[in-house]
Amino acid sequence: MLYQTEGKQMKQEPELLYLDLMKKALSFTLWPEPPEPITTRNSARSPVKRFLVSVIANILDRRKLQIVVKRDFSESQRINGQIWSGYADTMIGLKRLDNLQHCIETVLSERVEGDLIEAGVWRGGACIFMRAVLAAYGVEDRRIFVADSFEGLPKPDAEKYTADKGDTHHNLTYLAVSKEDVENNFTKYGLLDNQVVFLKGWFKDSLPQAPIEKLSILRLDCDMYGSTTESLESLYPKLSSGGFCIIDDYALPGCKSAVNDFRSKHTIDSEMREIDWTGRYWRKE
Ligand SMILES: C[S@@+](CC[C@H](N)C(=O)[O-])C[C@H]1O[C@@H](n2cnc3c(N)ncnc32)[C@H](O)[C@@H]1O
Repeated sequence: MLYQTEGKQMKQEPELLYLDLMKKALSFTLWPEPPEPITTRNSARSPVKRFLVSVIANILDRRKLQIVVKRDFSESQRINGQIWSGYADTMIGLKRLDNLQHCIETVLSERVEGDLIEAGVWRGGACIFMRAVLAAYGVEDRRIFVADSFEGLPKPDAEKYTADKGDTHHNLTYLAVSKEDVENNFTKYGLLDNQVVFLKGWFKDSLPQAPIEKLSILRLDCDMYGSTTESLESLYPKLSSGGFCIIDDYALPGCKSAVNDFRSKHTIDSEMREIDWTGRYWRKE
């Protein structure tokens, strides 16, 4: 946790310095937040506002002009991932990146077998960080699975998952990032290679048949009840004993119910620990 160095002794191991820099770069915490184009989060606006914003933005664009919105973040909001930077490659914040590093370092040092996966990757930042941790420690026999539709979230299947009734995540076009863009993000950091495996598709189709034998890290960041349930049902049985299950969205009611339902259905009693206001994790017994 090198970003909070005041009054603490600075560790100088090159791998820790590299990983610290990666966390800051991936979460865009090295720089003040530049203003964001007004169109970036347009899909979250009402239809009328969305229409007006896009018409005005198109007219201005022809004159190479742009309306931008100023965004001020406090240090603690950035660390806790409460507001994500529009320029970051991950929205998970420094505390959840620290937790990811801690879990990976633990499975490496205790030789817990298995690959690593994130279900729900957006721009890929958390997966890029997973690959960076393996690179930092010279690990060549584990893969990172990068699972996403690369088209955003699915429309809710309220018949199957009543908790998702009325869910509007599928309208958020800024959550749809193409596979090519995520690959380019890996390339940007020099971390795209054959240890990175992309699983493209809706989780209900892609995860049951994924070519995964064993996992040591299972990270879920997919917001909805259905997506969380489908990921847990397909992947949790592959998590090794001693491996970590990390939940990004416990603050969202759908995700929280999916996790609680799954844990009680499968009588999972392992202590669920808090990472920050929304992150939770437990170690499989
Ligand atoms: C909040 S974003 C993930 C953020 C990311 N982990 C990060 O580090 O910034 C949620 C992602 O989950 C994906 N997703 C959610 N439900 C899905 C499903 N059922 N099938 C495939 N992808 C899904 C979306 O496409 C989106 O990229």
